[in-house]
Amino acid sequence: MGKSTVYVCFSILLMFNIYSSCHSSSLYPRPSETRQIQELNGMWNFRADFSPNSDRGFTEKWFRFPLSKTGPVIPMPVPSSFNDITTDKKLRDFTGIVWYDREFYVSPDWQMKRVVLRIDSAHYASVVYVNGKPTLEHIGGHLPFEGEIATFLNFDKVNRITIAVNNTLTPYTLPPGTISHHKNDPRYPPGYSVQVLQFDFFNYAGIHRQVRLYTTPAVYINDITVTTLNIQETNAILKYAVKVGNATQGTTISVEVVNKEGMVLASSSGDSGNIETKAAHLWWPYTMNTTHYGYLYTLKIRGKGLDFPLIARDFNMLKWLGANCFRTSHYPYAEEIMDQADEQGIVVIDESPAVGLKMKVNFCKKNLEYHTRVMTELVSRDKNRPSVIAWSVANEPKSDTDYAADYFQHVINYTKGIDPTRPVTFVSSSDYDKDQVAKYTDFQCINRYYGWYQDTGHTETIATHLSYDLDHWYKVLQKPIMVTEYGADTVPGLHAEPSFVFTEDYQVEFLKQYHAVFDKYRTRFLVGEMVWNFADFMTDQSVTRVLGNKKGILTRQRQPKAAAYVLQTRYWSMINATTPVHDEL
Ligand SMILES: *[C@@H]1O[C@H](CO)[C@@H](O)[C@H](O)[C@H]1NC(C)=O
Ligand SMILES: *[C@@H]1O[C@H](CO)[C@@H](O)[C@H](O)[C@H]1NC(C)=O
Ligand SMILES: *[C@@H]1O[C@H](CO)[C@@H](O)[C@H](O)[C@H]1NC(C)=O
Ligand SMILES: *[C@@H]1O[C@H](CO)[C@@H](O)[C@H](O)[C@H]1NC(C)=O
Ligand SMILES: *[C@@H]1O[C@H](CO)[C@@H](O)[C@H](O)[C@H]1NC(C)=O
Repeated sequence: MGKSTVYVCFSILLMFNIYSSCHSSSLYPRPSETRQIQELNGMWNFRADFSPNSDRGFTEKWFRFPLSKTGPVIPMPVPSSFNDITTDKKLRDFTGIVWYDREFYVSPDWQMKRVVLRIDSAHYASVVYVNGKPTLEHIGGHLPFEGEIATFLNFDKVNRITIAVNNTLTPYTLPPGTISHHKNDPRYPPGYSVQVLQFDFFNYAGIHRQVRLYTTPAVYINDITVTTLNIQETNAILKYAVKVGNATQGTTISVEVVNKEGMVLASSSGDSGNIETKAAHLWWPYTMNTTHYGYLYTLKIRGKGLDFPLIARDFNMLKWLGANCFRTSHYPYAEEIMDQADEQGIVVIDESPAVGLKMKVNFCKKNLEYHTRVMTELVSRDKNRPSVIAWSVANEPKSDTDYAADYFQHVINYTKGIDPTRPVTFVSSSDYDKDQVAKYTDFQCINRYYGWYQDTGHTETIATHLSYDLDHWYKVLQKPIMVTEYGADTVPGLHAEPSFVFTEDYQVEFLKQYHAVFDKYRTRFLVGEMVWNFADFMTDQSVTRVLGNKKGILTRQRQPKAAAYVLQTRYWSMINATTPVHDEL
């Protein structure tokens, strides 16, 4: 891994003189001379629909009125997950429809412009109403959606936006889940049903990321694609393509490559072509000179939501550790997190929300079609990011089956089709001799828990198991392998000598066993190691989870456990070993 990438800002100026018509895109909203942004973040009114099928709000058309007129509302921050905000257990564990609304004004100047409403992520399915009229719908969390709303707006009086979000997971959602019904079982309360998950993190839901309005001129840039064709030292050739909305015969396009300080490095014109710049800058976070690995860990931060202080803290801890990469397990992270990765030179394996595809029905045709749509949304959102080094189409699916092989052959092939420039992988928890999907990837990620889920407590079995496993995977695949999860649950403050599962001592001993093996393979085909996990995180309630998954090397509050120092020493000695003497650290 460790493909180096140019860091360039791409700014495109557009000249136009006539208007016509077009579509929306997923370019991140950035203010400019021609684009204004209005945030709709803040406290919204909120109400969960606790009716039997959670459909009373739709039947009674709550969107036609201020939500507070339909019944009791509570304040709810946007962005956030609604689950942990109140002290109400029923709301924390709620499955069904929740309603949000708020009022806002727009400037009368905006009547002359395109006005786009963008929701960066709402989990899982959303219907959006502006002034009581349905305007947007989207299925799937973690990815942005947007649409033009000028025709629904009042420019002379107050506006209301209402959003209904359905967090139900079924065999046909990504990630999939099931609803377990006990409706006619006298041993359960009347009408009882419960959401069952097929993955190991809490199904946080709600409007997870920013809600914004932005304007563009009537003729506007709809999409930009930038790929690096070649880099030699500081010389780089970039290929670009610009899509213009409402373009007409009189529309001309001029393109400038600018650096972070706004200095123009190169320019061109036309809607596509190549640009050469002599100021390419290959980055690494730590002046490391090798390009062999992404040595890392996996973030399971609130990548699902958006919390600026936490983003800053997490990147500070990443730098403290000396990490250089993360995987967006197990869903696309907030774009503001990706911005920091771009900015700070941390590389990313960008993973889709396809975690826990375990049942045969999860691999049906309908899901295959939907999965490719999600890959399209993810690739169009993140394709221009220098930090993204690979796409991961799924985590731990049932990859030892022929139906998974058929399914993923298509998803992987499809993803390579829409982005021929980056490798595509998926993360396997199957055995090397049973996996049927790994043959389609460019490099293979595997998750391994020797000494934890198997041979629990026996760190002495780790080295032999892991070596055997790596040797055999490589023998079968003959391509680079990355270990994307290995880890042990650890309750901070628990100690035992000799070590015992769940103690800090055990986590330290466990990780060291893995590292000794990794060191034998990392000069060969092993291209990365990612500890599971960066920080503790919340899961569903179960007898194997004590207030969440405790495999973090940091606590949920982002403070180090003993194992964090082991990783810090390891990562920094690798950085030091590859740092030219003349570079200051
Ligand atoms: C194209 O321009 C017209 C006229 O300005 C505008 O109303 C419309 O929103 C634009 N269409 C699209 C799809 O951008
Ligand atoms: C919520 O989503 C689930 C799964 O797609 C669906 O079965 C259910 O009908 C939806 N609820 C409402 C009230 O639309
Ligand atoms: C893979 O995609 C290519 C086009 O990009 C197509 O020709 C080929 O048939 C696809 N193969 C499969 C198995 O989908
Ligand atoms: C890495 O180098 C820095 C600067 O020379 C030094 O302070 C640090 O102790 C080294 N760390 C390791 C683990 O070698
Ligand atoms: C990069 O690191 C290697 C050691 O891993 C060293 O031999 C080489 O000289 C370094 N290259 C540069 C340009 O400093």
